[in-house]
Amino acid sequence: MARETIEALFEENRRFPPPADFAAGALVNTPAAYAEASGDPRAWWAAQAETLEWRRRWEHVLDWSDAPFARWFTGGTLNVTESCLDRHVRSQPDKVAFFWEGEPGDTRTITYAELHAEVCRFSSALSQLGVRKGDRVAIYMGMVPELPVAMLACARLGAAHTVVFGGFSAEALSDRISDTAATVLVTCDGAWRSGQVVPLKEMADEALEGGTTIQSVVVVQRTGHGAKMSDGRDVWYHDVVADQPDQFPAVECASEDLLYLLYTSGTTAKPKGIVHTCAGYLLGTAVTHRLCFDLKPDDVYWCTADIGWVTGHSFVVYAPLANGATSVIYEGAPQHPDRDRFWAIVERYGVSKLYTAPTAIRTFMKWGRQLPDRHDLSSLRLLATVGEPINPEAWMWYHEVIGGGRCPVVDTWWQTETGQLMIAPLPGLTETKPGSATFPLPGIAADVVDESGRSVPLGRGGYLVITEPWPAMARSLYGDPDRFVETYWSRFSRPEEGRWVYFPGDGAKRDSEGYYWLLGRVDDVMNVSGHRISTMEVESALVDHEAVAEAAVVGRSDDRTGQAIAAFVTLEGDRVGDESLMAQLREHVSKKIGKIARPASIVFTDDLPKTRSGKIMRRLLQDISEKRQLGDVTTLANSDVVHEIAQRAATQQDEN
Ligand code: PRX
Repeated sequence: MARETIEALFEENRRFPPPADFAAGALVNTPAAYAEASGDPRAWWAAQAETLEWRRRWEHVLDWSDAPFARWFTGGTLNVTESCLDRHVRSQPDKVAFFWEGEPGDTRTITYAELHAEVCRFSSALSQLGVRKGDRVAIYMGMVPELPVAMLACARLGAAHTVVFGGFSAEALSDRISDTAATVLVTCDGAWRSGQVVPLKEMADEALEGGTTIQSVVVVQRTGHGAKMSDGRDVWYHDVVADQPDQFPAVECASEDLLYLLYTSGTTAKPKGIVHTCAGYLLGTAVTHRLCFDLKPDDVYWCTADIGWVTGHSFVVYAPLANGATSVIYEGAPQHPDRDRFWAIVERYGVSKLYTAPTAIRTFMKWGRQLPDRHDLSSLRLLATVGEPINPEAWMWYHEVIGGGRCPVVDTWWQTETGQLMIAPLPGLTETKPGSATFPLPGIAADVVDESGRSVPLGRGGYLVITEPWPAMARSLYGDPDRFVETYWSRFSRPEEGRWVYFPGDGAKRDSEGYYWLLGRVDDVMNVSGHRISTMEVESALVDHEAVAEAAVVGRSDDRTGQAIAAFVTLEGDRVGDESLMAQLREHVSKKIGKIARPASIVFTDDLPKTRSGKIMRRLLQDISEKRQLGDVTTLANSDVVHEIAQRAATQQDEN
């Protein structure tokens, strides 16, 4: 696949300089920032750090002596909510922080003063429930204003939040609760999605069955469909915040105190708890948000990501608030009640900066341009994307149909682990090419290397690496520092020479002008609609079903979702692989992980292609799934089986 992608991209010669009027008014329209930052990146980040609100100024910009465990801004203290709220309450209390729109059409407008007061009330309530600095609070909610409030209330207390995406299953929630030993869970009775109630409280109850570390559950009433409350454990959000003071002192935290944990998929079945700390994270997200979105005081900014993912953490909550921006939050699905909901929202609020995912753009393309054409989208000034490589056709459609040909398109490459944007254009300066994330941002040092870690010449592909630490980088994996080193820092680093190189797991190519073209994952991680899912995680969910003997999962290209999950399953004894079992298996994966991990296709087979040493050859399954010529089968112990699987796969229909 990588090879084909490279060839396809070679043909991409269209280029888009920043529109002259946009460039003229842009925050950055000269290359000076790159020059300054590359001369002395730490000094550059230190200068940027003046834009945060500190209690005590830092002593050292970076302590890298315990690499790869970074410590940024050591000696400094702050509370991130003072940068996100208090200082704006002093300077612009009535500025809107969030225009919130519920899926059924109800709306709320929340100013900085109101958001600050609500966060204070909930901090006070959490404190009365026993939450203290250093504790962990689990959050399992839909996209309601109380979700950012809950995160910020934790941050104000110095407690770490761990948000679990509302689309994840009860089991996924329960795993994360046990890994973090969270003591309080904040949830909703339900969430609105496509006109239906997602019964979050019921799923939370299931996650808590059998006893966990959770002592209290705070429930936001959203859908009012009659969630059951458990005496002595569950309390309503509206009850616990009533009568709380609208001031609550922010707890002083060290720069490196834990801000949050967020779980993400890796190459094994066990999700990794990514550790983000206070100062560096806030700085990295705020600076890259300001520069890449060319953020202006009168902007109305909308990032469509769910807060349950890192994009929502960084670019719905922390960065926009640190920058004092006005954001839109939409609760529900893009097709509800009609497929033009996004464009109606852009028109209604006068959105000027829009941040969404390529998979969404491809869906909108399929639905047709008549939907956006019904709306006045002239308020838009900049469009951005994240989550997966954007194919040039989708980039062009976004640029022309949504942006009317006048808005720079900012493709942002980054990860849960990087916290902040890493490779992306500066919209007032960078000439873009459809499908390229362009260049590493000021203060970021990247490279493309071969197997042995040597930089490859321009025009060639290889492994993307980051060669210098950056402020919002993950500090570790929660409770598993060895896995942190092993996963990200062992492949290309040379510790004996003091050289630490971060390996994100992505392939990339640089063209003859040094533009970066991301080529997808090089490990066993799939990217479905911009969400990372591990093949191992889905395999172990399948094998967990009593009918399944063995399972292999690969990600295959899909026009809409980027990749789709293709599963190959052998069954126990005399079990028959029919439609009903297929449905059961999909449901089983849904229950173990969440709906997003359901295989799009399942092929039942008598055997899986294996090497003589018994290793499953996923590469061949990938060839089959993508209907490619089969690769070398001579190393297989059972070469007949691949042809049989190929035949069965050819007659399969996708579901989902
Ligand atoms: O493979 C890359 C892809 O998404 C991965 C990170 O996933 P996650 O941690 O869930 O964060 C998603 C939102 C930041 C990366 O390793 N990816 C993300 N953005 C891009 C991308 N691939 C290509 N181009 C992008 N703009």
